This record gives sequence, C-alpha cells and structure tokens, in this order.
Amino acid sequence: MNLKVFGAVILTLTALMFNPALAQEAPEVDRTATGGAQTLEDIMARQKQLEVDESFRSENLGNPENAAAIDEPLGTLGGSSQSDQWRGIRYNEADIQTVTRGPAVDVLIQDGGMPWYKLREGPMITYGGGALIAIIVLLAVFYFVRGKIMIDGGPAGTTIERFKPVERFGHWLLAGSFVALGITGLITLMGRSFLIPVLGPDAFSALAIGSKWVHNNVAWAFMLGLVLTFVMWIAHNIPNKLDWQWIKQGGGFIGKGHPSAKKFNAGQKIVFWMVMILGFSVSLSGLSLLFPFQMPMFSDTFGFFNSILGTDFPTVLAPHEEMQYANIWHSIVAFVMMVAIMAHIYIGSVGMEGAFDAMGNGQVDLEWARQHHDLWVEEVEAKQGKRGSS
Ligand code: HEM
Repeated sequence: MNLKVFGAVILTLTALMFNPALAQEAPEVDRTATGGAQTLEDIMARQKQLEVDESFRSENLGNPENAAAIDEPLGTLGGSSQSDQWRGIRYNEADIQTVTRGPAVDVLIQDGGMPWYKLREGPMITYGGGALIAIIVLLAVFYFVRGKIMIDGGPAGTTIERFKPVERFGHWLLAGSFVALGITGLITLMGRSFLIPVLGPDAFSALAIGSKWVHNNVAWAFMLGLVLTFVMWIAHNIPNKLDWQWIKQGGGFIGKGHPSAKKFNAGQKIVFWMVMILGFSVSLSGLSLLFPFQMPMFSDTFGFFNSILGTDFPTVLAPHEEMQYANIWHSIVAFVMMVAIMAHIYIGSVGMEGAFDAMGNGQVDLEWARQHHDLWVEEVEAKQGKRGSS
C-alpha cells in the first residue's frame, strides 16, 4: 500500500473513532413555535448523537456592542441577555476576562473531550495492549517452531568489525531511550486501570509523577539518537534491486540459503525507515504535547489531506481538540513502533546466533557476516586489501 493511502486510512480510522462531526445529520426542525429557540426535537436529536446544525444557537449571541441600535426593549444586560451570554460561553465567543492570557483561555466548553477520553480509556488500551501481548506470543511461538537461527556450519572463530563505537552509541541511545519512553508511556496510559488496584492511589501517584518526568526528559535523548542513527546509516539504507531479491527469498527465514545483502538487508532497511518515519512523527506529536497549544498541527494536516484526497476531515479545531488528536496519534504511532521493535529485539538477541555481538562489542563472527551480509564483507575486505597493498 502506498504511504499516502496508508496515512489516509489511519487518519480516517482515527477520525471515525472519535470524531463527532461524522455523525448522521438530524432532520430539519421548525422552530417558529419557540421563536427560534431550542425545541424538544433539537434536544432529542442531540441525545441520539445526530449531527444538529447548531448555527441557530451559535449565531444568536445578542449584540452587546451596538445596544443603542437595537430596536427591541433592552434587558438588564443591555443588548445581550443572559441566554445570549451562556450561548457565547458554549460556543467560545464570550469575552472572557482571565488573569492569564493564553491560546486556550477563551475555550470554556469543547465537544472533543468525552470521545477522546473514551477512546483513550477503551480501544486504545484494549487494542494497543492486545497488540503487544499478541506479538510477544507470536515471537514465542516462532522461537519454538523455527528455533534460534544458527550460523550454518558453525562460527569461523575470526571476527570482523561491524559497527564503530559511535554507531553503537547512537543505537543504544536510541534503544535505551525508546525502552524508557515505552515503559513510562504505558504506565501513563494504563496505570489508572491496572496499577492503582495493585499499588493503591498514593504509590501510583508517586510512580506516575516520576514516569511523566522521565518521559518528558528522556524524549530529547530519543530525538538525538534518531538524528545520529539517521545521519550515520541513511547511505546504507537506500533501497536497491538486491532488496527485492531478498524479499522474494523471504530473507532466508523460510526455505534454505541466505540471500545476498550489503551492510543492511531489506528487512533491516524496513526497520530503519519505520524507525525514522514513525520516530519523526511520534517526536512531532510528542513536542506538541510537551508544549501545549504552541504547536497545533492537525487542522493543517487535515486540510492538506482534504485538498489532495478530497476527504472531509474537520479543519476548525479548538486548541484542546488539537491536543486530543496529538495525544491519540502519539499513542497509535508508539504502539505500532513498540510492536515492530519487539520483533527487532527478538531477532537481534535470542532469535539469531551471533547477531547481538554486532551491537554488543561491535565485532561479528566472519562466517555470520558472510552468511547474512556477503557483499558487505567483500566490500570491507576489498578496502582492507587496498589499504594493505598501498
Ligand atoms: C533493546 C534491545 C535491542 C537490541 C538487543 C537490539 C539489537 C540490534 C542489533 C544486534 C542490531 C544490528 C544488526 C546487524 O548487525 O545487522 C541492531 C540494529 C538496529 N537497531 Fe536495534 N536493538 C534493540 C533496540 C532497538 C530500538 C528500541 C530501536 C529503535 C527505536 C532500534 C533500532 C535499530 C536500527 C534502526 C538498527 C539498524 C537496522 C537493523 O539492523 O535493523 N533497536 N539492533
């Protein structure tokens, strides 16, 4: 599936799950009997979660500035009545005087809160947590069925340098921070449901405050790790014809023989690009959450999708709704990454003989290297040969 379509599908699903704007429209209502005010039919339609055109209320806000021009009798509040003012508050049009000014202070009521809360406490925990359990079970089954992938004919006993210290530093910065962010993120999302019953509210409160601190601060290490590994490895991750061969042979996991590969095979390139693209996206939505209301990005993103795909995503979002979308998107992307990274951790540790050394001490067995990255070994040996002869 191409990336744009995939992105649109994810966005559509997200929007469908908690976007009240996609509800069914309510039938036209005759309000002459109430003089234009709300009728019982309006209230019933809202209770049925139908989409009610609220303009008869949102645009009926009185006229406080131009009271003198109003020919109807004025009330105690001049050109606007108390109902007008409450409607102003409901539709974020009231002139609110607060001590602190900020991008969200004028919004006293917004509609996205409850659907967001329900999505976060319900499907997000169920499907996200379910996906994590499913991948752990799947990897365990794979381990028992396929077994550890061994070096055919055993190790050579001599080694070759696979990753320089700076590459390993970049990898472990990225990996260590990712694991810390994953654990503290899960505590933040699921702690109320699963940890309060076990730890009690006081201990959980301390843990949640600590988790939040770690999550907010370790995020910078993750972003640095992402930039370092991107710069160091991008040149080795440009797709080429060999990758297609590798994929067609199932990467050597299924069947016999090892397909040829340079420094990174197609499977690793997929991991690399997944980490970079999703890592960038999770960082952006994370920054938007870290600096509330300062980096709204969903109305623009939705507008962009609407213009290229003809979709109908809402583009007028209250500041709080922007944050709710950022929060949901952040969690979805993080879960996709966690699931994929579990598979990566498996293959880089217990799943394959000799793989961990590459990131452990940087030296891999020559036979392992020949079997998994034959063309890379040839390149390294050719360079060494040149150096040796000059
Ligand atoms: C925490 C446990 C982890 C272990 C044991 C581990 C292990 C490894 C190993 C052994 C390699 C080198 C493979 C080779 O020689 O070709 C590697 C590469 C890599 N790792 Fe990890 N890793 C871990 C976590 C992570 C995390 C959390 C990320 C990203 C968020 C990550 C991203 C990468 C990338 C992008 C590469 C290069 C592409 C690839 O080999 O797939 N790793 N890892």
